[in-house]
Amino acid sequence: MDSNEVNKLLGGFLGTCFIIFSIGLVSDGLFASPAPEKPGFAIEAQEPTEGGAAAPAAAEKPIADLLASANAEAGASIFKKCQACHSGEKGGPNKVGPDLWDVVDRPVAEHAGFAYSAGMKDFSKGGQEHWTYENLNHFITSPKKFVKGTAMGFAGLPKEEDRANVIAYLRTLSDNPKPLPQPGAAADASAKPAEAAKPAEGAAPAKPAESAAPAKPAAPAQ
Ligand code: HEC
Repeated sequence: MDSNEVNKLLGGFLGTCFIIFSIGLVSDGLFASPAPEKPGFAIEAQEPTEGGAAAPAAAEKPIADLLASANAEAGASIFKKCQACHSGEKGGPNKVGPDLWDVVDRPVAEHAGFAYSAGMKDFSKGGQEHWTYENLNHFITSPKKFVKGTAMGFAGLPKEEDRANVIAYLRTLSDNPKPLPQPGAAADASAKPAEAAKPAEGAAPAKPAESAAPAKPAAPAQ
């Protein structure tokens, strides 16, 4: 083999490399699929850390106090997260979740035409349990933790301020908004779930007896 032939062979080899490499570049360009900056449907699903239930619950501010300084307008923009699955209009459609018009104080799992999960039906105790401010607050903190087996695939709102704002907004979705709970009288609201035999955690400390009665303050201040 003389050096001419070697040159031809080398040239052929390099030429082939060049073509393969070019095809690679061109097809990369044609079929590029850059990862989207943001995933299309951002439902955060971090599991809350195990065993953390009792500790933060104890340190939590009562919802009555939080609602006193809540901002329903700010809540309206948080409600956008809920609107992925819920409508909030009167007579609105059930979507992935039931319509939330007039949900404050509504019996749990009783909205017409919605097929609730077994977990939610259990929690409702046949319609005895209501969506009190307290229940709403606990539920949207961590839906799956508060209502075992719920089908609501929402991670929850970890910030108490966000929860208070969105609950204040939910309250406005009504022809007849329910009175706000009285700040400082937090035990009242939580007496409800407690007396209805909700599993231990979250039950408010102290004075259940006398405070069980005035679940609805006679003269709401607003
Ligand atoms: C990914 C969809 C999804 C998102 C987002 C979502 N929910 Fe839900 N929600 C559901 C489903 C599904 C149910 C029914 C749960 C069941 O049957 O266990 C439900 C049930 C509820 C209920 C109980 C209603 C009833 O009639 O008993 C309330 C209250 C509620 N959601 C509030 C909220 C709020 C407030 C937000 C926003 C902070 C929110 N949800 C975000 C899907 C969602």
